[in-house]
Amino acid sequence: MLAPVTKAVIPAAGLGTRFLPATKALPKEMLPVVDKPVIQYVVEEAVRAGLADVLFVTGRNKNALENHFDRATELESILLRKGDDERLSRVAESTDLANVHYVRQGDPLGLGHAVLRARAHVGDSSFAVLLGDDIIDARDTLLERMLEVHRQRATSVVALMEVDPGQTHLYGIATVERTDDDDVVRVTGLVEKPDPGTAPSNLAVVGRYVLRPEVFPVLERTEPGRGGEIQLTDALLTLAGDASAGGVHGVVFRGRRYDTGDRLDYIKANVMLACDRPDLGPDLRAWLKEFAQRLDD
Ligand code: UTP
Repeated sequence: MLAPVTKAVIPAAGLGTRFLPATKALPKEMLPVVDKPVIQYVVEEAVRAGLADVLFVTGRNKNALENHFDRATELESILLRKGDDERLSRVAESTDLANVHYVRQGDPLGLGHAVLRARAHVGDSSFAVLLGDDIIDARDTLLERMLEVHRQRATSVVALMEVDPGQTHLYGIATVERTDDDDVVRVTGLVEKPDPGTAPSNLAVVGRYVLRPEVFPVLERTEPGRGGEIQLTDALLTLAGDASAGGVHGVVFRGRRYDTGDRLDYIKANVMLACDRPDLGPDLRAWLKEFAQRLDD
């Protein structure tokens, strides 16, 4: 019997080079989507799934991130004096959300290396990893489903999404076998960012994982792979072939995901999530329709 998962690890130590110069002095995870930093959506998702113990793996420019989840005493007292309760509660929201911890990655040697930095905090239990630049729509319940599959099958679990075959070189791609659950597959192979035309499938690993602690000794031994980085995908491939560590399963996700580390997806995320907001949606939708017509002219 596996102990229940209680901890979430959120890597946020990447260089965010696709977003330069915006990320020169700010982690990309702190870029706002509508009016909240990306990483707050990610923490809210972890908390909704019951994981209120959150470890951030941080890199350079971590101050903005730490400050966001800390008290903002001066700002709070000004809003209090003004009697602006609504904005005050928005400021306090991120402070009270979760029980947050931090560990530094040092050099950004890859996602696998970032996850390995969580070892002392996580210990000998399974844990979730949520990439700090990937938003899963709050109306979809991917992480909950992954935790359920982990419980039922005592396995490490990755999130998979079907991607356009022209996009496979951007992702870790899985080879899978079906199971008796429609949305669950057994992962038999994994390759990180395969060269165009060589991908074994169009099932891409996206930014959510539930991992058994056996991943740590495997990561210790994992040599730098694609791009000279220690790849989590390479460690997962080893785990997939290790029945005693429970193997690896995938949950095939068909919901809404926004990869905010990519500039075009980031812009789309802002538009789509703002359209759904009662305060901004009606005006934005009306303007978008008019704007789309102008594009055709
Ligand atoms: P990405 O590969 O998207 O991040 O990593 P990146 O390297 O910062 O992006 P670009 O290509 O330069 O724009 C996915 C997630 O893993 C974290 C990132 O912060 C992001 O949340 N990450 C990546 C780390 O924490 N450490 C690393 O060494 C690499």
